[in-house]
Amino acid sequence: MPSRYHPALVTLHWVSALLLIVALVAGTLVLAPVPNSDPSKLLSFRLHMGLGFVIGILTLIRLAVRAKTAHPAPATTGIALADRAAPLAHWALYALILAMVGSGVALSLNSGLGNAVFFGGEMPANFEGIAARAAHGIIATLLMITIGLHIVAAIWHQGVRKDRLLSRMGYDKR
Ligand code: HEM
Ligand code: HEM
Repeated sequence: MPSRYHPALVTLHWVSALLLIVALVAGTLVLAPVPNSDPSKLLSFRLHMGLGFVIGILTLIRLAVRAKTAHPAPATTGIALADRAAPLAHWALYALILAMVGSGVALSLNSGLGNAVFFGGEMPANFEGIAARAAHGIIATLLMITIGLHIVAAIWHQGVRKDRLLSRMGYDKR
């Protein structure tokens, strides 16, 4: 068994992490608070939707590369429950990312936003009453919490358990 993840998977992990943090922070602070009537929002929508698609494609590529490459043995914590929770948390991250993209696409189709942003159609006044809009916001919160726990777990491994877990997501001889 290798001592770290495949370098392609390592690259996909760190690039996706960066893009996701940008999409989550910008979605919350730049996109959601501005009304659709604001002319600057068209560019924000284009960037956010484009970024969301890229994240979705990278995640699908990542799952394919993951299925085709060998991984290190599961990390241990000394706590049986935590050892069982770790793979569930990782699958939850993948599922939440794909659910963000899915709900974003459903939202743009159901509100006519996709047509407005890419084909010059009329911009919807707002997203009130659109279930996919509510879902997109709730899934974003769940994703932020799961990412937060994931980062705390990585810091705990590295700093408290001192098992060099971060090096498994780094580049070196496998
Ligand atoms: C946006 C943020 C992030 C997401 C969505 C994310 C997602 C993931 C996923 C899904 C895995 C599991 C890999 C697999 O087996 O398929 C993983 C592993 C890992 N992540 Fe992240 N990650 C993020 C940010 C971070 C950050 C900031 C750190 C460091 C502080 C980190 C450190 C690690 C480490 C060390 C592993 C390997 C764990 C192991 O060997 O069992 N991640 N990450
Ligand atoms: C992983 C990918 C994505 C992430 C992390 C993300 C993140 C976010 C966040 C955090 C918000 C603000 C939620 C709130 O405060 O309630 C938001 C809003 C939004 N997102 Fe995404 N998003 C993603 C993908 C997409 C995609 C693919 C689309 C469309 C094709 C999209 C369209 C929208 C729209 C229309 C809003 C609502 C803006 C408003 O209320 O004015 N998102 N997104």
